[in-house]
Amino acid sequence: MALPRKIVILTGAGVSAESGIPTFRTNGGITYWDVYEDELAPKSYRVEDVCTPEALARDAGLVHRFYDLRRAALAGVGPNAAHLALAALDAAWTGELLLVTQNVDDLHERAGSRRMVHMHGELRSALCAACGDRRPHIDDLPPGSRCAVCGAAALRPDIVFFGEMPYAMEAIETALAACDLFVSIGTSGAVYPAAGFVQLARHYGAATLELNLERSAGSDLFDATRLGTAGNLVPVWVGEVLAGQP
Ligand code: OAD
Repeated sequence: MALPRKIVILTGAGVSAESGIPTFRTNGGITYWDVYEDELAPKSYRVEDVCTPEALARDAGLVHRFYDLRRAALAGVGPNAAHLALAALDAAWTGELLLVTQNVDDLHERAGSRRMVHMHGELRSALCAACGDRRPHIDDLPPGSRCAVCGAAALRPDIVFFGEMPYAMEAIETALAACDLFVSIGTSGAVYPAAGFVQLARHYGAATLELNLERSAGSDLFDATRLGTAGNLVPVWVGEVLAGQP
């Protein structure tokens, strides 16, 4: 193919695995989500108990606690070689670039990525369910916390729950339609709409590449797949792309 100028990158939990953040699924099926209350004792949560609007309505204490633990865990982890390579690409790439992450951690931005969106929300952000205001939030978020803008006791974790609309879909679809290279990194391809991005990019003529530990659900849809850890594969791929940059 001709050298790419417009690149869209999709990342999933696999890109943060080597930083010590657990992924969600193993062997293609949804598993329990583990969160460490202390180093030796992971506590498992079912997806439907912590990541749906119904769960929030039923037991806000449990849902807030789950995301408090995940938010607190961010203090003990840092970006790995894959995050750093993608940040280096962002800094050096003179063409168009959009990094779309499904991850709610902040490791891409801590590595230095700027041209990016969090389509599934962010752990270090709070959303007002009353007025829609979103703003950075680092500490625990007890149910009933008040919004700084409208005053409602309606702050919730700024996470896109199953059944809710992901963020930035218009910008993402515009970028996918225009890109000439789509790269998917460390995602199982189990959750839509992200799992459908490869088809959209292909439809508009982009070349497609998958970098993952194992073949994902939609692996056959990619022009090429490289299997391995993100920490190994991503720096090599970024090096190739930057070497080919005019
Ligand atoms: P998954 O846990 O479903 O998939 C992680 C993928 O990363 C798998 O395909 C693994 O093979 C791969 N993987 C694991 N370790 C890796 C490594 N070191 N290097 C490269 N790849 C590795 O996570 P996602 O696909 O991100 O949504 O899950 C998508 C969404 O499901 C998440 O954003 C989350 C969840 O529901 C929300 O929280 C809203």
